Amino acid sequence: MGRQWPAVASSQGVAAARFRSRRKTLAGAQHPSVVPEALLLLDASGRKHLVSLGESMVRIRGVGIFEATRLRSSVGRRLEVGGKSFLVLTPSRRDLRDTLERGPQTLAHKDLAAILYEIDVSAGNTVVEGGCGSGALTVALARAVRPDGRVISYDRKDSSLDLARANVERADLAGLVEFRRDDVRSGIAERDVDAIALDLPDPWAAIPAAWEALRPCGHLASFSPNMEQVKETVAAIRARPFVDVRTIEIIEREMEVRDVGVRPSFAALGHTGYLTFARKVLETF
Ligand SMILES: C[S@@+](CC[C@H](N)C(=O)[O-])C[C@H]1O[C@@H](n2cnc3c(N)ncnc32)[C@H](O)[C@@H]1O
Repeated sequence: MGRQWPAVASSQGVAAARFRSRRKTLAGAQHPSVVPEALLLLDASGRKHLVSLGESMVRIRGVGIFEATRLRSSVGRRLEVGGKSFLVLTPSRRDLRDTLERGPQTLAHKDLAAILYEIDVSAGNTVVEGGCGSGALTVALARAVRPDGRVISYDRKDSSLDLARANVERADLAGLVEFRRDDVRSGIAERDVDAIALDLPDPWAAIPAAWEALRPCGHLASFSPNMEQVKETVAAIRARPFVDVRTIEIIEREMEVRDVGVRPSFAALGHTGYLTFARKVLETF
């Protein structure tokens, strides 16, 4: 589905205590650490399967069914299932994005990474998202605000909300996210929000609501594939007390490193979009 764009469906955020209480210590590991309720199976071809450990039996499409306890005791090791070999990994941000069920076009890794850095999102923050789509940014934000922050994600389409909610649940982050079926341009109910991230066709129309919702010094990010959208968004930002207004494009080139012929990959990532950032202030010069 392309980016050709433009009520209460809400899974209320569950207390962070629930999230903390579900963490388990990895028995028998060299370095005791935390095992999440989802693990990643990586096969020899590089294919990734995100597996939720909420159930006692785990099903992997095309592979089979097996006991979750086998996964928990195999973190960092090889596991044989249904005649196939997998490495069992704790899921990273990259893994969570790679294993999303896709609907509306998702943000690329490079753009997700820049947003997290530029809006300075950290544990305990309250972040609002405008346009959850498939939930790639929702998942990345929820992971960043763990264990006691929250993400409030607005979308006006049930199909996007349902998909993003399912992806957040698969990543074991449901307790941190509230979904709202609403048009983010017509207002953001939250106040004193640490950061707001927009991925909409007309983000400029949501800037007044974003300014109202942000705390002083709070961060705004907006992603747009086209320069015309950027121009309108920046004009709307400049019409309000915001500082540090910057627009960037991130260009990523992966390298193929081998014995002979080290060079950029032919499968280069093409154009994704532009990122605009700003910070709310109460007074300007
Ligand atoms: C491209 S998707 C977002 C993708 C998401 N950032 C991701 O990485 O998975 C854009 C979403 O914005 C939603 N949307 C568009 N206009 C909106 C508005 N005014 N208020 C709330 N949601 C809106 C669409 O329904 C769609 O789900």
